[in-house]
Amino acid sequence: MRLKDKKAVVTGAARGIGKAISLKLAQEGADVVVADINIEGVEGVASQIEKMGRKGYPLKVDVSKRQEVEKMIISAKEKMGRIDILVNNAGINRDAMLHKMTDENWHEVIAVNLTGVFFCIREAAKVMRDQGYGRIINISSASWMGNIGQANYSAAKAGVVGLSKTAARELARKGITVNVVCPGFIDTEMTRAVPEKIRTKIIEKIPMGEVGKPEDVANMVAFLASDEARYVTGAIIDVGGGLVL
Ligand code: NAI
Repeated sequence: MRLKDKKAVVTGAARGIGKAISLKLAQEGADVVVADINIEGVEGVASQIEKMGRKGYPLKVDVSKRQEVEKMIISAKEKMGRIDILVNNAGINRDAMLHKMTDENWHEVIAVNLTGVFFCIREAAKVMRDQGYGRIINISSASWMGNIGQANYSAAKAGVVGLSKTAARELARKGITVNVVCPGFIDTEMTRAVPEKIRTKIIEKIPMGEVGKPEDVANMVAFLASDEARYVTGAIIDVGGGLVL
């Protein structure tokens, strides 16, 4: 167990990659605050964590709302005593070609995928600075380098890279690492919503020839959260079967 008695917060933990990350951290010995707008989903994940002999705390949180994030971090600190690991995984997509993208499409995605990550890092960093220890892992995307139909999503995910590199520099001397994981094309409800024709085209572009599993991303997050990764900060790590080379 690489994360024995560590205390973690995972956002977007109700399903998909966030759920896999939460279960993996628990399997490695961590207690986990599982946060999501979908409370039923995180209640289910928390009870799975409890069955593994760890503590799972479900919280209803919209990461794009500053006050809800503040409450989440205060509540996580109260429940667990400290916060060793923060995984910013919550994310949405509202894909459209530029000429059809509405203001709403733009603002919604920036609010959740970028501003939400900023709120969570800012509040958690206050706790982690006091502790002199922390591991922050931000889930960006292969799309941060640009992807047709994803101007909003790519801008937010590239923003996460810049934000993470700045946080890594600011927090390095405080015992806090900040790293970015960029999933490629992972089998979750988000990607199952992609039309079959486009799915097939994307899979053809993956050198390893298959979609990834949420657990592939979770394994990398667990490594970055562990003491084995103590000398890794500000890194951008692709988990995409070679999609981006
Ligand atoms: P998903 O749609 O299956 O799960 C996302 C979770 O985030 C859901 O449980 C949802 O309720 C939650 N969420 C949405 N808005 C929220 C908010 N405002 N506050 C709190 N929680 C919120 O997505 P998936 O595929 O598991 O993606 C997880 C992360 O990985 C996202 O950041 C996504 O952008 C990123 N990603 C996913 C890829 C994929 O292939 N599935 C590829 C690259 C990045």
